Amino acid sequence: MEFETLKKTPVFKALSSLGKRIYQPNGIFHWTGRAKKEAEINATIGTAVGFESDIVEGGREKLLTYYLPELKQYINLPPEKFASYAPIAGIPKFRDLWEKWIIYKGKNAINLPSGSIDVSGKITKPAICNGITNSIFLISKFFLNPGEKIICPNKKWGNYNSVLHLQNQIEIETFQFFNEGQLNINGIIELMQQISKVQDKIVLILNFPNNPTGYCPTKAEIQDILNLLKNFCDSSNKPVIIFCDDAYEGYSYSDERVGTSIFYELIDLHPNLIPIKLDGASKEILMYGGRTGAITLGIHSSWLSISEKEIFLKEWENKMQGMIRSTISNSNHFYQEVLIEILNGGFEKMEESRNKIYEILKKRYFASINAFDKYKTDGITIDPAGGGFFVFINIDKIPANEFADHLLKKYKVGTFPVVSEKEEINGIRVAFCSIPLEKIDETFKRINLTLSDLL
Ligand SMILES: Cc1ncc(COP(=O)(O)O)c(C=O)c1O
Repeated sequence: MEFETLKKTPVFKALSSLGKRIYQPNGIFHWTGRAKKEAEINATIGTAVGFESDIVEGGREKLLTYYLPELKQYINLPPEKFASYAPIAGIPKFRDLWEKWIIYKGKNAINLPSGSIDVSGKITKPAICNGITNSIFLISKFFLNPGEKIICPNKKWGNYNSVLHLQNQIEIETFQFFNEGQLNINGIIELMQQISKVQDKIVLILNFPNNPTGYCPTKAEIQDILNLLKNFCDSSNKPVIIFCDDAYEGYSYSDERVGTSIFYELIDLHPNLIPIKLDGASKEILMYGGRTGAITLGIHSSWLSISEKEIFLKEWENKMQGMIRSTISNSNHFYQEVLIEILNGGFEKMEESRNKIYEILKKRYFASINAFDKYKTDGITIDPAGGGFFVFINIDKIPANEFADHLLKKYKVGTFPVVSEKEEINGIRVAFCSIPLEKIDETFKRINLTLSDLL
């Protein structure tokens, strides 16, 4: 594959050396796929295949991937739905459903400045990988060479450091997430300007609701981000790649906050802007152990003519398959089938069922904010939030590790300390998502007692 169409878009220019180099050759999955359709005898893939009746009493006279018969005691799906490998970038049915789910979320957007946004035909088929962690690993390698820079807020998911920096050797450049209690949008743009002086592309990762603070922007803030990004792109000729880490999409608890990914607004914002949506089942469908994530590119309407679009999609698909096949090979088959069952039942139905958990989390969120206010004293502040699974408490004078240790040892409350002198962070992340409502007041009371003990 020569990627002639991809090369005409700003996406190709923005790729890392690996991104430019990688492709999925017509390997085993290609020949197996062909053999399934064309062969009388299929001697392609290295999985043990035979008649079910060979291995199970009363089994079917059907060729399938052999499985240990005991598995059927634990799994209620037919063995065809868990024993064999899933296709490299996911089961087509699941990918179609996840694409529809992405479109559905845009059409039912919560508080985005443009209201409901229809991205049908404007996105690539989601490429399925092993959770959002894996999608961040793959996509950052795809766009960034070792030594290149990515922009993150200082308050960020701790694992970014391991994935982006320790694994992929990318330099993380941070801006202060908040400035006087407000989202520091200028900080993002200033860093973009700085980086554009030394790098031929600008890469940014946005995560709303944010881990560790729970921050969800307001509609006005999203609009400000969009305006500033557009101005930046107008004045710079460099591709701007935005990874939207949408792990907590949908978990916003306040009417003033945006509950849908900024990704939808980024598509078509500017020809040089390349938005990538990273979402998945872990939090959205409460299936953390399912390890199912998706990588989806937003396509600017100026990039391709109608006739080029299909070729572009094939080329992107080939690159994504190359990335997946050369790292994790393919993702969990069983959980994709489970998700097919769930999503096939209708998105509204899934949301209705999830809503019980959403409402519980919402109550815990407000209880956390109220309890913090009730017990607050000098020396601790809470970051603005609005959604997600956590709140973040900044501690003035006591090292956060010492604070968390005392809180745990003396008051038996476990929290997660985050300390970075360089990024001016010293605080604890409180995962209200895992505290029963009736224990929330007590949690914050004990946090306050810890402060009194140590000050
Ligand atoms: C911001 C953020 N991104 C990504 C992830 C990882 O998601 P997954 O479990 O799908 O890999 C998490 C999980 O904690 C997270 O907080």
